[in-house]
Amino acid sequence: MKRRNFLKKASITGIGLAVAPTITSCETTEKKESKKIVADTSKTIVPVVVATWNFKNATKAAWEVLEKGGMAIDAVEQGCRAEEADVKNTTVGKGGSPDRDGNVTLDACIMNKEGNYGAVVCMENIVHPVSVARKVMEETPHVLLAGKGAEQFAVEQGFKRENLLTEASKKAWEKWKITSEYKPIINIENHDTIGMLAIDSKGDISGACTTSGMAYKMAGRVGDSAVIGSGLFIDNTVGGATATGMGEEVLKTVGSFLIVELMRQGRTPQEACEEGVRRIVTSNPNYKNFQVGYVALNKKGEYGCYCIHPGFGISKYQDGKQIYIESSSHIKKKV
Ligand code: GLY
Repeated sequence: MKRRNFLKKASITGIGLAVAPTITSCETTEKKESKKIVADTSKTIVPVVVATWNFKNATKAAWEVLEKGGMAIDAVEQGCRAEEADVKNTTVGKGGSPDRDGNVTLDACIMNKEGNYGAVVCMENIVHPVSVARKVMEETPHVLLAGKGAEQFAVEQGFKRENLLTEASKKAWEKWKITSEYKPIINIENHDTIGMLAIDSKGDISGACTTSGMAYKMAGRVGDSAVIGSGLFIDNTVGGATATGMGEEVLKTVGSFLIVELMRQGRTPQEACEEGVRRIVTSNPNYKNFQVGYVALNKKGEYGCYCIHPGFGISKYQDGKQIYIESSSHIKKKV
């Protein structure tokens, strides 16, 4: 059964991007140019993809879909797949750090222009949870599958079982077991969960988010990344937002939903991301000990990013150009 067939298509008439969206957020030095929201959607829309952190291969893979006129949903899936397959990234997909028992468990979600959502949490032995999440969205009447059920569904859909624990991540886990101390280290290795947002040449926005979660977490722990409204939220009339960092804090503040709602009320993506972080730091006095970063993109192609600690940033691919921009942060000095 194709659940999406039952769902009404969201109307986006009247909103389109008229000119190449030169961005004025993230304290970037990019030059300002005029931007215009127009009712005439026949004008050229310039596609764009943004992602958390400096995930160059991922934004390139997404851009390759967008530049051929492909859909944003395909772009974000392909972008996230690039990172899931990269065994050097110990926070996403194969090669991701295991839980404290040595099992690699993955969380991912995807959301399309129609407001449909699919997700898997705590899934083992499958390299591409983002694609399984898409299958959940498109091929089931459900939105979220967990653990063994998610794995079983993936296999039924043709995904192959594979050991996700690489020699390198096993070695690191064995070293960790000597002390068995979990100490979050802010911006360790300078990469984390990938959250991705894209606008295609029709002006439609989609997003995806995928992670292996917190290294050496308790078995069964699930963070924000695959939870709608927390790790990701898309509204095709407004824009999208996605998160990285300490998932518990994003979950408690429903961060990505908050940011999209703030943009709906007129905040820029940058202002909305800053407010998302402010909600966390005002409610948790321990905020100096963890990192959270947000990325947002509105329907005009404007983007923003903000985080608690320095070290986070946003990658963007547009007009054949790939850039990475360091985010401004609540705490100014590196700890
Ligand atoms: N943001 C990823 C996680 O907390 O699992």
